[in-house]
Amino acid sequence: MRHLLSVDDLTIDTATELLDEAERFEQALMGREIRKLPTLRGRTIMTVFYENSTRTRVSFEVAGKWMSADVINVSASSSSTSKGESLRDTAKTLRAAGADALIVRHPASGAAHQIAQWTWEDGTGPSVINAGDGTHEHPTQALLDALTLRQRLGSLAGRRIAIVGDVLHSRVARSNAHLLATLGAQVVLVAPPTLLPVGVETWPVEISHSLDAELAAVDAVMLLRVQAERMNGGFFPSAREYSIRYGLSDRRSALLADHAVVLHPGPMLRGMEIGFSVADSSKATVLQQVSNGVHMRMAVLFTLLVGTESEGPA
Ligand code: CP
Repeated sequence: MRHLLSVDDLTIDTATELLDEAERFEQALMGREIRKLPTLRGRTIMTVFYENSTRTRVSFEVAGKWMSADVINVSASSSSTSKGESLRDTAKTLRAAGADALIVRHPASGAAHQIAQWTWEDGTGPSVINAGDGTHEHPTQALLDALTLRQRLGSLAGRRIAIVGDVLHSRVARSNAHLLATLGAQVVLVAPPTLLPVGVETWPVEISHSLDAELAAVDAVMLLRVQAERMNGGFFPSAREYSIRYGLSDRRSALLADHAVVLHPGPMLRGMEIGFSVADSSKATVLQQVSNGVHMRMAVLFTLLVGTESEGPA
């Protein structure tokens, strides 16, 4: 694998190998006072973020540092982008400065694909990882979510997972729906018709408009963040109606099976998308998702920069 741009790049075998690799990194670091492996010594990783982030940017930086890579963070506001430099020139500049990997977040769908094309020259170039492009994809989020589900539920084959809320603006929903289906899960999107994208009928999912009707039968509920920044100042249904119909309130979470778990990619809007108590309950996997994000990003960086044929962390 040269880049990770989309979950469509992953088969059940390559996705499962990444999940296994992430667990090997978790095991390799467990109980260590100093969490440092020599795996990527001498490699240079650059995070290039044109949108805000806490979890994704930090976990890539931690992952790189725990593998002894040099990690450089580039943000739009502090780079020459603010002086009018084009995305193409910035990408080529970072390649020329020695990037072995570019981790890209950008508001435009397809930006990471485009950067991968621009920076591949004469048979070489950095590995490009899509850390979220517009409303399109967020493949490492889907991988860390799959890892969390596998740890909490065992195999994903045949498990029923509800993805709930603002599917229309969510790159997390698209990546998760496709990856979970690849891994054998049954996915049901639960959303108002106004927050479903055109073409959703081609996704490998069922569609429901009633959260209450789905809760008793699912093994996991994956709540989505309402992407207000992509809604031009308003959305339908209203925030209050959204909360009433699609929020996983404390009352609603009582309808879940005992074994069922609740995921949220963060940042959470407590009281709207998720009840205050649910977010901190033993059913919620929110912080486990964050920890898994570091191990999964270690696995992705290792696989792209070193390759699966080399000796791993075990
Ligand atoms: N889940 C996620 O992408 O969070 P951040 O925006 O904080 O990176």
